[in-house]
Amino acid sequence: MDTHIKIFDTTLRDGEQSPGCSMNLKEKIEVAKCLERLKVDIIEAGFAISSPGDFESVKTVAEIIKDCQVASLARSVEKDIDAAYEAVKGAADPRIHVFLATSPLHMQYKLKMTEDQVVENAAAAVKYARSKCSNIEFSCEDATRSDYDFMVRVVNAVIASGATTINLPDTVGYTTPDEMKELISYVKGHIDNPDGITFSVHCHNDLGMGTANSLAGVLGGAGQIECTINGLGERAGNTSLEEVVMAMRTRPDVYKAQTRIDTTQLYKASKTVYTIIGQQAPLNKPIVGRNAFAHEAGIHQHGVLANKATYEIMTPESVGITSNNLVLGKHSGKHAFETRLQQLGYELDKEELVRCFEEFKVICDKKKVVNDDDLEAIVNHSIITEDIEDGYKLDWFSVNTSNFTTATCTVSLEKNGEKFQEVCLGDGPLDAAFGAINKIVKPEYHTFADFSIFSIAEGKDTIGDATIKLHAGDNRTLTGHGLSTDVIESSIIAYIGAINKLGKKTGSEE
Ligand code: KIV
Ligand code: ZN
Repeated sequence: MDTHIKIFDTTLRDGEQSPGCSMNLKEKIEVAKCLERLKVDIIEAGFAISSPGDFESVKTVAEIIKDCQVASLARSVEKDIDAAYEAVKGAADPRIHVFLATSPLHMQYKLKMTEDQVVENAAAAVKYARSKCSNIEFSCEDATRSDYDFMVRVVNAVIASGATTINLPDTVGYTTPDEMKELISYVKGHIDNPDGITFSVHCHNDLGMGTANSLAGVLGGAGQIECTINGLGERAGNTSLEEVVMAMRTRPDVYKAQTRIDTTQLYKASKTVYTIIGQQAPLNKPIVGRNAFAHEAGIHQHGVLANKATYEIMTPESVGITSNNLVLGKHSGKHAFETRLQQLGYELDKEELVRCFEEFKVICDKKKVVNDDDLEAIVNHSIITEDIEDGYKLDWFSVNTSNFTTATCTVSLEKNGEKFQEVCLGDGPLDAAFGAINKIVKPEYHTFADFSIFSIAEGKDTIGDATIKLHAGDNRTLTGHGLSTDVIESSIIAYIGAINKLGKKTGSEE
């Protein structure tokens, strides 16, 4: 019988803590809902002690999610464990994830602890965590550069103290598949009693081997893979959830393993996460890239037409890419709109539906046909856009620009029924537009952290999806998103979205 491999998703912790990937509470809740629909086994919702915003988001996710375990990370100290427990205790199935480094480098230079102290500290921390919660994971940070026999000592001690999952992470993305398989089977084979203990792998992708190393861990006896949507994470990222899941599904002959993931939700989850962080999948990204299932070469097309299996090892439908690209337009009613969204797997509440339908109608005025990519963008934007109390909205703008004159932009914004207009010169239309907005809003000090604009689909009337990230003076990163067939308009909407948050601390955007 195939082994069940638990999928432990850390998009909201290891993914979110990497530069450019921060999310606010609303966005984290959306990601958590996607993860629940995917049916991951465990959601690591954050690192509760790290900030009040993180605590709040772990707590909120724990209260909302019913069908997955919800975990918080904690260092091996009581105050971290207290915060982690307070944040996850409302979950249907809470987990505390305690960690301590075990490699000589980390113990000597970071922890300044001897081996004995590390064993003692890890055991005491797990015992304390277990006094609060029965589901305890312990991670030997930097396991792949640790001494195997020392790790056996640590693992025996934490299991005796109550740990039920043992994670051996490749913290710096240094290991190779053969080594990972050997590491898991060695530690599992040498501890006093592995019965009832789940071994876990958590790989970083610094050498591009995150997926291969995680799967090798499964061959070595791991029963849990820690991973993130789109492989987000520190430096080169973590193992990609979609890759390991589809590898095990496509090669059961090799891995003899299955997960409970609903793979038809993979594409949608990937898109939602990319929209939130203002990025797009690289064209050739496995599973979710635009070209992942495209067959351009004539010889491939010929083969696929004759029999799909010639060049296709998995179907686009199995990851949720629909081939029935039905188009809607300005004459489509709310019912057709809702039906198509349901077919695409979106269940919106009444309020969200009204908001999305209004946005759809605005887009329809500018674009003859609205396809599935456009619809997904409309929904993703609508569910992550925060309604900021006392926020400004774009009323209209008018821009005058050329490559031989200074650009001028007049902007009219609306707030609480009142309208405000300003005009500004600038180095290009966006500089002028942002200048006019600044004259109206007079925002707090900020700098531009990032600005991206992508086309949603092919064709010259496609929608431009803009994301702007601002750094506030107090270290917060504030994100705004904008959608329009006019890229100047989408950029202006994105800028207003970010500026609206400047005066208002949302806590979780750090
Ligand atoms: O990479 C790592 O070692 C981690 C641990 C905290 C599990 O993220
Ligand atoms: Zn990590």
